[in-house]
Amino acid sequence: MAILVSGGAGYIGSHTCIELLNAGYDVVVADNYYNASPVVLDRVKQITGKDFRFYNADMTKHEDVEKIFAECPDIDAVIQFAAYKAVGESVSKPIEYYYNNLNCTLVILDVMRRHNCHNFVFSSSATVYGAPASVPIPEDFPVGKPTTPYGPTKAITDVCKADPTLNVALLRYFNPIGAHKSGLIGEDPNGIPNNLMPYIAKVAIGKLEKVHVFGNDYPTPDGTGVRDYIHVVDLARGHVCAIKKLETKCGLFICNLGTGHGYSVLDVIHAFEKACGKQLPYVIDPRRPGDIAECYADTPNAKKGLGWEAAYDNEEKCADSWNWQQKNPDGYHTVK
Ligand code: UD1
Repeated sequence: MAILVSGGAGYIGSHTCIELLNAGYDVVVADNYYNASPVVLDRVKQITGKDFRFYNADMTKHEDVEKIFAECPDIDAVIQFAAYKAVGESVSKPIEYYYNNLNCTLVILDVMRRHNCHNFVFSSSATVYGAPASVPIPEDFPVGKPTTPYGPTKAITDVCKADPTLNVALLRYFNPIGAHKSGLIGEDPNGIPNNLMPYIAKVAIGKLEKVHVFGNDYPTPDGTGVRDYIHVVDLARGHVCAIKKLETKCGLFICNLGTGHGYSVLDVIHAFEKACGKQLPYVIDPRRPGDIAECYADTPNAKKGLGWEAAYDNEEKCADSWNWQQKNPDGYHTVK
């Protein structure tokens, strides 16, 4: 039995491959390196001491996905990470985001049914809740009005409900941060990071001058935005739990993967300062359009349905991000 990890060379995908391999699963990775480096997969092998099959595949192309299933008849489940993920960019490139993200998912689901593969884990996001009426957000919260074109590409509940033979786990991630303890793999955004944690890490390493805090006039304890930052290894372990859940033929299962705790932008900056042992310069800028004040998870389904809970605390998340950044100041382009 093997798991196809589509987008397995990406940030969350690569950490998930490690947890799957460590749990004894055979893994088939598919990636087109659109937003990832081939170095990642060597590092996954180095960390786990295990080998796996790899396909350089564009998951929007039927022929690419068909080839994988034809050559790997032992694929029993798919974890679908392959997607564009720059939320801001999706506003200026809605067609590209709809086309790529939806087609990756739909082509995989179509090829799966023709090969009698019925187990599907989907990389969804808290973004599907839109601007929540209250926090924490439990899984039965109504899926909100999407604020960007990225949002609808992460909400595929209808597709899953239509086919009763499918077992589907929709995992709604909150804000993934951190890196593998080894410091060999981590988040490596192209260009200037859009997200808070990689931006802070680049300021700490001296590649960017100061952190821009987007607004301090939100109705939150210190006025800055509050989010649920989850360690990427916790998130990766959630996927192994989801694969086990699908083995019980659970039908559609939806859960949040978050810690249940909200931290402000300033909390995160200060936690990172502790990890890197220096003060980080920051400036208060206007709010970023589209941002919401607070977003953090309630996770009853994950606890009950997966037996999963986040384990890493804030200090360790920052320490692991810092360890990765220090060892790889230029990400996977760092020359060793
Ligand atoms: C976004 C996406 C989410 C995705 C996540 C990680 C939405 C609404 N959110 O979350 O789906 O999972 O990215 O890819 O679609 N901030 C600053 N300065 C910065 C960057 C961010 O102050 O330079 C603040 C933001 O205003 C926010 C917090 O930090 O309050 C977190 O922002 P970010 O890391 O970009 O993640 P989200 O926008 O929460």
